[in-house]
Amino acid sequence: MDFSSTRMLAQGLFVFLMLSTMAEATKPRTILVGDSQGWRAGTNYTQWAIQNSPFHINDTLVFKYPPPGNSTVTQSVYLLPNLWSYITCEFRGAKLLGNASEGDDEGFKVALNESKPYYFASAEGNSYDCLAGLTKFIAVPSTRSTTS
Ligand SMILES: *[C@@H]1O[C@H](CO)[C@@H](O)[C@H](O)[C@H]1NC(C)=O
Ligand SMILES: *[C@@H]1O[C@H](CO)[C@@H](O)[C@H](O)[C@H]1NC(C)=O
Ligand SMILES: *[C@@H]1O[C@H](CO)[C@@H](O)[C@H](O)[C@H]1NC(C)=O
Ligand SMILES: *[C@@H]1O[C@H](CO)[C@@H](O)[C@H](O)[C@H]1NC(C)=O
Ligand SMILES: *[C@@H]1O[C@H](CO)[C@@H](O)[C@H](O)[C@H]1NC(C)=O
Repeated sequence: MDFSSTRMLAQGLFVFLMLSTMAEATKPRTILVGDSQGWRAGTNYTQWAIQNSPFHINDTLVFKYPPPGNSTVTQSVYLLPNLWSYITCEFRGAKLLGNASEGDDEGFKVALNESKPYYFASAEGNSYDCLAGLTKFIAVPSTRSTTS
């Protein structure tokens, strides 16, 4: 193969990869939070959120956590109203999305159907985790046409 055909092949491959990335981005995803680990106490989800970004409108997040029992820390999912409450772990204005028993089996689903930042956190253990920067993350779904 000579140089120019190699270059054309490379360019063609590049365009193909770009298109397939775009096609993938237009299809809503169902994303398991924390992958196989699920939604766990004392876990840093920031890296996970970065790896799974960008999120898009109509993507669905699935939170899975064990029901209350002797051996597990009870878990829940709260949506905090703004960045400040997220940082300070002020749960007074927060909305309980998934209670302690709703993360069982298929897990608890949240559709990212609005173009706004979603501030997720667990309030268990007196917000100890939240204050430590753990078991919380921000998802900002982008629309397809704008860059995230
Ligand atoms: C998200 O889903 C709703 C309901 O199915 C639809 O009306 C809307 O156009 C979708 N939004 C985007 C950005 O795809
Ligand atoms: C909780 O602990 C009790 C007593 O130790 C035990 O009998 C029971 O099976 C445990 N339940 C669960 C859900 O682990
Ligand atoms: C969680 O919510 C479900 C459904 O709304 C309800 O049936 C259940 O009693 C709640 N569990 C707890 C521990 O609050
Ligand atoms: C997004 O979903 C929530 C929860 O199901 C619902 O209350 C809300 O009206 C929806 N928003 C839009 C823009 O579809
Ligand atoms: C969580 O992970 C992020 C990204 O790796 C890092 O910047 C941050 O300091 C970590 N936070 C904690 C509390 O460990």
